[in-house]
Amino acid sequence: MAHYQAVGSIPPKRHTQHRRPGRGPKAGELYYEELMGEEGFSSDSSLLYHRNIPSTIVASRVWELPDQSTTPNHPLLPRHLKLHDLFDAKATRAADVVTGRRLVLGNGDVRISYVVAAQPSPWYRNGIGDECVYVERGKASVETVFGSFEVGEGDYVIIPRATTHRWIPKRSTKDPLRAYCIEANSHIAPPKRYLSKYGQLLEHAPYCERDLRQPVGPLLAEDVGADPDEQTDVYIKHRGNGPGGVVGTVHTLPCHPLDVVGWDGCLYPYVFNVRDFEPITGRIHQPPPVHQVFEGWNFVICNFVPRKVDYHPLAIPVPYYHSNVDSDEIMFYVDGDYEARKGSGIGKGSISVHPGGHPHGPQPGATEGSIGVERFDELAVMVDTFRPLDLGEAGLAVDDGVYAMSWSQGLGRPGPGGAGGVHSEG
Ligand SMILES: [Fe+2]
Repeated sequence: MAHYQAVGSIPPKRHTQHRRPGRGPKAGELYYEELMGEEGFSSDSSLLYHRNIPSTIVASRVWELPDQSTTPNHPLLPRHLKLHDLFDAKATRAADVVTGRRLVLGNGDVRISYVVAAQPSPWYRNGIGDECVYVERGKASVETVFGSFEVGEGDYVIIPRATTHRWIPKRSTKDPLRAYCIEANSHIAPPKRYLSKYGQLLEHAPYCERDLRQPVGPLLAEDVGADPDEQTDVYIKHRGNGPGGVVGTVHTLPCHPLDVVGWDGCLYPYVFNVRDFEPITGRIHQPPPVHQVFEGWNFVICNFVPRKVDYHPLAIPVPYYHSNVDSDEIMFYVDGDYEARKGSGIGKGSISVHPGGHPHGPQPGATEGSIGVERFDELAVMVDTFRPLDLGEAGLAVDDGVYAMSWSQGLGRPGPGGAGGVHSEG
């Protein structure tokens, strides 16, 4: 993020001596300064002050990742994937957010996975790119070397590349933790058009810095009841010759990873809740980019939130048919009145895949039916990719197999689950 933060103990001048205070055996020892920087240290960075040398490992082994193989969407079809069918109660009890996530869709720029998790994750670092984890339901603590977050429904958790962290689901909530994981091969940031030339969010942006939650820290091993000197495994996802160019390694550290006594800079994890997104509305239908919330290399993330709709006297609130010729559109339906289509297709937990090259829009009858509607009660998260997405093993496992024909069934009356009904923009 562009705006500067300082947390914990840092010296007045960067790259100068910073020593342990107190009277213990380690008093007076130097802390170890680490510059964590993007784009070859030509972009955002932070300085972290460690108790231990951050390079130190005592062992290394292979982490066999869950199936990362993908299958092309060929012959080309729009698809309906039912994510809530992926994890039953037994699978949920065994899963954690890091090792349990299952690959739904992916390409060389971004991978979308899904998990319903009850277990604490191991310590983890994604060396391939930033992660945007959308919390669909449930609550969790996210502990990072920058500090901690308490996260819940509707939170986007943005974790920069190579940030060591872990997920600990809260068991006390009635809903298990459901996480929609968007893993970039790049960085994830607010749309550039909403930023000043120095990186401040501008007045026409649908959210601002006040809406972003910062890590609470510093967070040290003893703060989470751990021994600072305990050997700890860190699971690392990194570039390699596995399916999708993704492989895993486990490094064993001689001490606990929570050893940062202070940090400052503009690179750190943060959280944004979808309820803080102020929708941009107008007299006539607003173009899809008004729903954008973040972007990465070759993809964007949009959200469709409850809002008043178009108020021109002759307005048509549902979208026009559209061909997003450069993108695959992946809509994840989180909340809203999709129950009206019960038994027929799209509902909470569904993903619609509208691939580039296939025009799509309202189901038959929905355009006329939307006239006079004043408000949409929907919540959906969309990822649009500029390169085609292939199906992961989880996507193949929950493809309903009939969605592509939903526009043609019963011509002249609403088809089952046809894309883009009264409550769906995508
Ligand atoms: Fe669309």
